[in-house]
Amino acid sequence: MDIIYLNGEYVSKSSAKISIFDRGLLFSDAVYEVISVINGRLIDMDRHVSRLERSLGELSINASADWSAMSRNLVAQNDLQEGVVYLQISRGVMDERDYRWPSPDTAPTIFAFAQPRVLVANPMADRGMTIITRPDLRWQRCDIKTTQLLYASLMKMEAMAAGVDDAWMAHGDMITEGTSQNAYIISQDGVLISHQLDRRILPGVTRIEMLEQAKLMELTIEERAFSIDEAKNAAEAFVTSSTLLVMPVVEIDGHRIGDGRPGEKTGKIRQNYLAAVQRASSTTN
Ligand code: PDD
Repeated sequence: MDIIYLNGEYVSKSSAKISIFDRGLLFSDAVYEVISVINGRLIDMDRHVSRLERSLGELSINASADWSAMSRNLVAQNDLQEGVVYLQISRGVMDERDYRWPSPDTAPTIFAFAQPRVLVANPMADRGMTIITRPDLRWQRCDIKTTQLLYASLMKMEAMAAGVDDAWMAHGDMITEGTSQNAYIISQDGVLISHQLDRRILPGVTRIEMLEQAKLMELTIEERAFSIDEAKNAAEAFVTSSTLLVMPVVEIDGHRIGDGRPGEKTGKIRQNYLAAVQRASSTTN
């Protein structure tokens, strides 16, 4: 995976350099996308592009490029079969450190790279994830996919220290999302509950297709916040993200979910999700 994209050129990792006055570096003034690649094809690229353009718009970062072609080139040049493409755009380079934005015609810094990763045959899908809950102390615009990921990273480290796989964050008692995934439960009476789209969560690309598949399975869907207690008493729980796809959760704060094994409905949703995105990607790229 030696070839990366930087500001219009495909170069080797070791020759890619950016300025220390880049706003992405000094202020996390940057947005990003992580796109999964399965069988050498980008999954749900159009939805990633829409979200990226929305993130750029919310922060008034002027950047445009053929994001899909750039990502496809990286997959091809690195011969990536399964893994992710990471795309990042910052507001660009300042003359000196200043909170105020440089002029709007400052060139953004755009880079992208590819990384191999096992997505489909992830053994975690068979054993299920264990999680802890922690307060959500992030900023109030979690709907924008910025590179300000320090709190999420701290919570991931707390999860590791607690001997579990990850953390779900909560405002008071109400779960928002995982450190880098959207969070869901299926209640004892079979209702799939997903936090509503608002400023407290990232509008996940995987979430959109997962909900489509759940609808086809005729599951009742409620888009609302759910409490930590509701989650502990749920029949099933799971997360979605471009790297974990649809991943069962089997333990929350030490409480077993259901019988402690990945839920049946979750397994079916994962299967159907995978079939649908692979079908779609084979015709679009
Ligand atoms: N994270 N919520 C948060 C906070 C995330 O960081 C992510 C993705 C998601 C799921 O979004 P999607 O389904 O579009 O991947 C939800 C990526 C994978 C990351 O930061 O690596």
